[in-house]
Order: sequence, then structure tokens, then C-alpha cells
Amino acid sequence: MTHASADMRAYYAERAPYYDAVYLKPERQADVAFLREHLPARLQARTVLEVACGTGYWTQHIAPVVRRMVATDLTAEPLALARQRPHTANVSFQQADAYALPHHLGQFDGAFAGLWLSHVPVQGRGAFFQSMHARLSPGARVVLIDNGAIQLQDFPITETDADGNTYQQRVLRDGSMHRVLKNFPTEAELQSLLLPFAASFIYRALDNFWLCEYELPAA
Ligand SMILES: C[S@@+](CC[C@H](N)C(=O)[O-])C[C@H]1O[C@@H](n2cnc3c(N)ncnc32)[C@H](O)[C@@H]1O
Repeated sequence: MTHASADMRAYYAERAPYYDAVYLKPERQADVAFLREHLPARLQARTVLEVACGTGYWTQHIAPVVRRMVATDLTAEPLALARQRPHTANVSFQQADAYALPHHLGQFDGAFAGLWLSHVPVQGRGAFFQSMHARLSPGARVVLIDNGAIQLQDFPITETDADGNTYQQRVLRDGSMHRVLKNFPTEAELQSLLLPFAASFIYRALDNFWLCEYELPAA
């Protein structure tokens, strides 16, 4: 079963042409500069699966130092922009649902997902990790980044559902209003979520983002 949302897909399709503005915010520049160095360094020389790559902002920074990369997203519009990124000759861009990553994508010893876990419903987390881990080999390293709670200053929570998922109201440039599922897992939540799979766990809070890295147990 997929937890993919047609509403979220429509939202990111519409937003794709100006999505990268999130990385231009002045208060995020120090974090973005750090991540542009740090993420490639943590995945260097690996074969990397990227989940929900969007417009490929991070793909273009990670690809130059990895052996090969498959960057996936459910939505065609951001993926079309990702395909135009420079420094991505070793990347295969493929449309795929994070909850059902197909076998034909291959096997990887690294994975990355940026600003994605926050959009995964609480009840879909198990399915997402199961889907991603099925594509990874023993000892694979996974790196996740996402928005810290400071993002709530721009988009306060407007609703919480029975499963504990939180929602924001977002207005796009065409004036359309969207109800977007956006969760803010704490370090403790992430750790207990990943404990069953991970042989190691590193968490780091930046000013605007959190960063989490873990490795699957070796064979
Ligand atoms: C916040 S954007 C993140 C883009 C990029 N990873 C980044 O860090 O800038 C979330 C992305 O998730 C994608 N998405 C939504 N549902 C998905 C699903 N079920 N499977 C894969 N990607 C999905 C959207 O199309 C969108 O590109």
C-alpha cells in the first residue's frame, strides 16, 4: 500500500519552477553552505539512491563525488527540472513512489532524502523505511535532512489529526491554498524510529535544518 498523496503531488508540481527559493533565504545560507560540503563528504564514493529528489538541488552537489546515483521523485514537474542540473552525468533520474521503490532501480550502499521525512505521515514511516531499505545493501549509509521547528515561524501548524500528523496552510504564487502534511520529528523520535534498523545513529541540529545519519548493520 502506498501513502502517496495526490494533493502533495499537485502542490509540488505547481511549486516546482520556484521551489529552489527555499535555499535562497538569507537566514539559511550558513546551513546550506555547510550541507553543500557535508552531504557529499558523507556519501563519497558510494552508489546512492536519492528519494524525493525534487528539483535536484542536493543531487547536483552529491553526484560529483559518488560512483553512481539514481535520483527518484513521484512528481514529473520537479523531476524534469532535476534532469537539467549540471554535474549529473552519472545520475539516472526516475519517477518512483518512495513507498514502493521498484526492484529495477538497483542496489545501493548509500541513500539520501532531503526535506522528505517531514512529509511522510506517522502511519507511513514504517512503509517508507521498509521500501528504501529493501534497495540498500548491508552496511549502507543513509543521510536524511529536514526542516527544524524554526520553519514553523513561517508556516504555523493549523491542524493535528488523530494519528498525530501536523498540517500547514501554504499559499502558492498563483494564489492557490494548500493543506500540506508537515511533521517535525524530534531527535528522540527519530532515534526510536531507526533503532530497529540502524547499527549507528548520528543526529545534528543546525539553525534551520536537522541532519540524521545511520548505517544498516553489516552482513
Ligand atoms: C520538500 S520537496 C524536497 C525536494 C528535495 N529533496 C529537496 O531537498 O530540496 C518534497 C518532494 O517530495 C516529492 N514527493 C511527494 N510525494 C512523494 C512520494 N510518495 N514519493 C516520492 N516523492 C514524493 C515531491 O514531488 C517533492 O519533490
